[in-house]
Amino acid sequence: MSHFAAIRLPHEILFGKGQRHALPKVALRHGTRALICTDQRFAGTAIFAEILAALEDASIAVFVHDGVLPDVPRNSVSVCVEGARGFKPDMVIGIGGGSCLDMAKCAALILSHGGQLQDYYGEFKVPGPTLPVIAMPTTAGTGSEVTPVAVVSDPDRTLKVGISSPYLIAAAAICDPELTMSCPVGLTAVAGADALTHAIEAFTAARRGTDASLAQNHVFIGKSALTDHFALLAIKLLGRSLEKACKDGADQDARADVMMGALAAGCAFGTAGTAAAHAIQYPVGALTHTAHGLGVATLMPYVMSYNRSASTEELAEVGAALGIVQAGLDVKEMAGAAIEEVRRLFAAIGITPTLKALGLPADKLDWTAEQAFGIDRLIKNNPRPFDLEAMKRLVQAAYDGDLAASAI
Ligand SMILES: NC(=O)c1ccc[n+]([C@@H]2O[C@H](COP(=O)([O-])OP(=O)(O)OC[C@H]3O[C@@H](n4cnc5c(N)ncnc54)[C@H](O)[C@@H]3O)[C@@H](O)[C@H]2O)c1
Ligand SMILES: [Fe+2]
Repeated sequence: MSHFAAIRLPHEILFGKGQRHALPKVALRHGTRALICTDQRFAGTAIFAEILAALEDASIAVFVHDGVLPDVPRNSVSVCVEGARGFKPDMVIGIGGGSCLDMAKCAALILSHGGQLQDYYGEFKVPGPTLPVIAMPTTAGTGSEVTPVAVVSDPDRTLKVGISSPYLIAAAAICDPELTMSCPVGLTAVAGADALTHAIEAFTAARRGTDASLAQNHVFIGKSALTDHFALLAIKLLGRSLEKACKDGADQDARADVMMGALAAGCAFGTAGTAAAHAIQYPVGALTHTAHGLGVATLMPYVMSYNRSASTEELAEVGAALGIVQAGLDVKEMAGAAIEEVRRLFAAIGITPTLKALGLPADKLDWTAEQAFGIDRLIKNNPRPFDLEAMKRLVQAAYDGDLAASAI
């Protein structure tokens, strides 16, 4: 077998309790003037005050934008950039959930290249390097600290939009699990379930060939040896500790596992990409106004079931990584056990079991399937191909809660 792999990551990834204290030294390597993107919640914390004092002690001038809103409305990026332009930052530091990190990436993009955010929607539209971004997550989920994507919401578009470019990868990711200790259980569950979905979708993504043009023409290229390595690490850590972190938010070891799992999942899907669960969530999220992580996790068992015939081996490996004891199970049975275990785990942490329970209107199932089918970059990454009829059947099965029907 000849190996094929591709991976794109930040230059520096720091992980561990207390690593936030490295921020001033990391920042000094990029300049002395920092735009900080965060939200009002984090800006009001004692930890944020400590971070500002430490940057000041290192003679780093800061401009704080604390107006980040969930899902990064397009216009909020203009507000941030207009406020910060006169400050002439050398770098952008994003601190907060995925929304704050995505805002930092968008602000760095517009400050560096001008124009409007919508000029860059899609893949490879960013013309060159941006101001360096330092990403410091306070949720354990999106993986945005290491991925080449920023997701925004646009009042002119029904579905959320992505800007995908290797130039959007942060220069440095600083992951300190202490920052996640304050996450309430619902956020821990939804963000962690998003991370497990990233890892499973990256690990079961299509193999898209070994052609030298693949990674040059696509940001997301399907599974390969290095992304598999990170995906399996993520599945192991999240399988071991996501439920624990939800049951006892004060469990520091579980919090660290979940944050490392989210980081590793980001390392995997940032190059491999995600697939059908993420594609279907886009229209579902637009209609139900439910959190991204909740939607993808609701869909994941049904998508695994749909992919079971095409990804039997991979799903069996997912089962092993989740800690299912293999004795006596053949590969097909292990694949089935993996699907059941993901369903059990998600139910245990309060993930909605069906699209119906998520609030999807019954008369919008066809529209949902059509929109999901149209998201080519995700659909072509799915290991089992789709036609529109197959997508409609899968959406119906996920609506009804019929795991067996989703395999057809
Ligand atoms: N760029 C990527 O690669 C990528 C990947 C997946 C999702 N996303 C995007 O990320 C966004 C979701 O990010 P998210 O799930 O991290 O949530 P978020 O950033 O939208 O934050 C949700 C809420 O949680 C609060 N919060 C954050 N950290 C907290 C903490 N430590 N304690 C208490 N409250 C806290 C925030 O203040 C906010 O009110 C969506 O817009 C999604 O589309 C991006
Ligand atoms: Fe996601």
